[in-house]
Amino acid sequence: MSMLQDIQEVFFSQEDLAKIANRLGHQISHDYKDHNLLIVSVLKGSVIFMADLMRNITIPCKIDFITASSYHAGTESTGSVSVTDDLSVKDVHGYDILIVEDILDTGRTLQKLSDIFSKKGASSVRICTLLDKPERRDKSVTIKPTYIGAKVRNEFVVGYGLDFDQKYRNLPFIGILKEEIYHPTTETKEAN
Ligand code: XMP
Ligand code: MG
Repeated sequence: MSMLQDIQEVFFSQEDLAKIANRLGHQISHDYKDHNLLIVSVLKGSVIFMADLMRNITIPCKIDFITASSYHAGTESTGSVSVTDDLSVKDVHGYDILIVEDILDTGRTLQKLSDIFSKKGASSVRICTLLDKPERRDKSVTIKPTYIGAKVRNEFVVGYGLDFDQKYRNLPFIGILKEEIYHPTTETKEAN
């Protein structure tokens, strides 16, 4: 059974996504020339974007990973954000940190991570997000992304790292699922 039959509509094709990674990679390479760049990928959702973005960055940099959780299964945020796996770089002093995220939604996750890195003494902290859902931003959130791949309306998207209930991350494009996948009727549930 193919995942493709669960897709309602494709929002960003493989070509669109390659262009985004290329454009942002060039911009970042220009802006961080002569800086001590540390790119921090927020697992798991940003991992595919990170892999494409970093191959479009032409200046020396280091990479690291962090895991922050704000979502349970399903499409709704739980509100609280926790760091479940920290960076392997222990001292961030002297680093210009660029946080790479799949999607900026309420913004609570990146607010928390930005605050942590700033408090720990990073030279600078900026955000590169593949997708931005500005409509959804929480009132308490003050961070603003410096690099944005594309803005999206308030719909739950999957693919290219983004999941629904941990699945569909391996789709090479970004789209939305059919309504019955997000909200299965009793009949569909019994059939599965
Ligand atoms: P906040 O609300 O803290 O959350 O900005 C960011 C995280 O929420 C998840 N998220 C999504 N995941 N499709 C997804 O697969 C979506 O449309 C979506 N919107 C938010 C995602 O894990 C992101 O890192
Ligand atoms: Mg997710």
